[in-house]
Parts: sequence; C-alpha cells; structure tokens
Amino acid sequence: MSDWKSICRVDDIPSLGARRVRRPEGGDVAVFRTGDDRVFALLDRCPHKGGPLSQGIVFGEHVACPLHNWAISLEDGQARAPDVGCATKFAVRVVDGVVSLLADELATLAVGDALAGVDPATARRMTTTLLADAGAASACDAASAPNGLSSCAQSQDPPPPRTIRIVAA
Ligand code: FES
Repeated sequence: MSDWKSICRVDDIPSLGARRVRRPEGGDVAVFRTGDDRVFALLDRCPHKGGPLSQGIVFGEHVACPLHNWAISLEDGQARAPDVGCATKFAVRVVDGVVSLLADELATLAVGDALAGVDPATARRMTTTLLADAGAASACDAASAPNGLSSCAQSQDPPPPRTIRIVAA
C-alpha cells in the first residue's frame, strides 16, 4: 500500500511557479503549480545539463529550464522535440488542497545518480547547496521565478531558497 507524505498546500506553491522538496538522499524534487492549479513533480534536474527546473518558468503543462530554455513536460518529464531527454517524474496527490508525494518514491527515485550527467560547474553548485542545507531534509523550499521575467543570466545564479515547513509528517 502506498504511503503518501504531505509536503505543503497548493496555495504554498506560487501559480506558474514551483517549490523545492529537499531529500536526505538524491536530488531535490521540484513541485510545480500550473495556471489552472494542477500540481506536478519532477526531479529538480534538467535532463540536458542538470539545470534547476524549479527555477524555470511554468507555461501550460511545461517548464522552461532556466539554463538553456529546454521545454520539459510536467506530465511525463520528457523534453520537447527536437531536444531529447527525460526528467524523473514523481507521483502527486492533492486532497483538500494538501499536496502529497509517495514516500517510497521520495526515498528511492533517482537516488544515487543525483549528479549524473550534470556539468561540473552545476554539480559544484548543487553540492554546495546540499551541504549548506544539510539537516533541512524535511523542508520545502520556495523556488519560483518571477512570471515571464526570468533570464538565463539571472537563473544561472539563483537566489538562496527560502524554507517553509511541511504541513504534516
Ligand atoms: S540545463 Fe536545462 S536546458 Fe540546458
């Protein structure tokens, strides 16, 4: 039987934005909210060179990676053609406005390959962030970009994440 872990409320996620869920092992999970309040979750790592998808711009059912503007489907993690690649997708449940992820997936999906395929500069930045935030494994971090205003130059040096509390264990 599946064990759902409450992460935050839908309203805690900015419309057309994302929040980042930190995991003890493996890369962060980006939880996105579309303009019509649907919620999706992907590993917070672009399949191109590891860009932080949580810093991207949500449009329709896609997010534009902040590094090189690949469009990644929120529904299945696939890069839009002609680009090729896939971000790991996580199941999402929303009940009474509370967003939950599967505990099994949080514990196992994409664990052990968090930096695989990531260019060295991004890997260093990700490692630094993980070390700086050690101990915040149950946190959900704000990571939204201003709607339509993000640029590659801005997104290559994202602001430090803000932390909110998970609403239930
Ligand atoms: S790292 Fe995402 S498009 Fe290049």
